Amino acid sequence: MTASERIVILTGAGISAESGLGTFRDVGGLWSQYDLADVATPEGFARDPGLVHAFYNARRQNCREAEPNAAHHALARLQAKHPDVVIVTQNVDDLHERGGAQAVIHMHGELMGALCAQCGARWSAPDRMEATDACPKCGSPATRPDIVWFGEIPYQMRRIEDALATATLFVAIGTSGEVYPAAGFVQDARAREAQTLELNLEPSGGANQFHSGRYGPATEIVPAWVAEILGD
Ligand code: APR
Ligand code: ZN
Repeated sequence: MTASERIVILTGAGISAESGLGTFRDVGGLWSQYDLADVATPEGFARDPGLVHAFYNARRQNCREAEPNAAHHALARLQAKHPDVVIVTQNVDDLHERGGAQAVIHMHGELMGALCAQCGARWSAPDRMEATDACPKCGSPATRPDIVWFGEIPYQMRRIEDALATATLFVAIGTSGEVYPAAGFVQDARAREAQTLELNLEPSGGANQFHSGRYGPATEIVPAWVAEILGD
């Protein structure tokens, strides 16, 4: 990897699949078990906050019991050698951080974060959140998981756009490319003449937008790609 290479990596649920965390759209995925309108929209939360908290309490528990896998560790190794590698994730788990990555941009929020819908205060989420929990800052019972739901604005988009504007290589890992704005990042990168690579279990619906793709389990293809980049 030359010093002038600027890599932006986007990860999705597929990078955490082999850690035992479910993906959304694979067979048996989360959206085949739950109606996303009930558990991943502000309207669903307003309708039944208890159901939404139960959904995220279960995912938070799964996350605490999961371990980062070889793909998470490989990206951390890459970033350790080249600190300007930017990791953007759609995932709300903390496996990138627990695998050693730094400054991960969680554009869809974080399971381990809590947010007050009333005053905007943020704090570390307890293991279990209830609809009656009072905000530690304003006291109102309006606490929610710090997750970006469908119809809400993803976090840190300016930072992501700035990174994509100067990227020389954009790599998407373990994402179906179904949800915008993340699904559009490959086009943003190509518009700036960056090379684009998809690393996924199988070609995603957006595979033809990438210059190249490598397919297989993330725990195999991501460490192999990182070793190649680092010239191991
Ligand atoms: N290794 C690599 N890729 C994998 C693996 C694996 N072991 N297992 C599954 N995949 C791939 C699938 O082929 C699929 O393309 O991961 C992708 C998972 O796609 P989705 O389930 O749609 O997850 P993601 O792309 O992250 O979803 C984006 O949608 O529901 C919202 O906010 C949610 O962040 C999520 C967003
Ligand atoms: Zn508050």
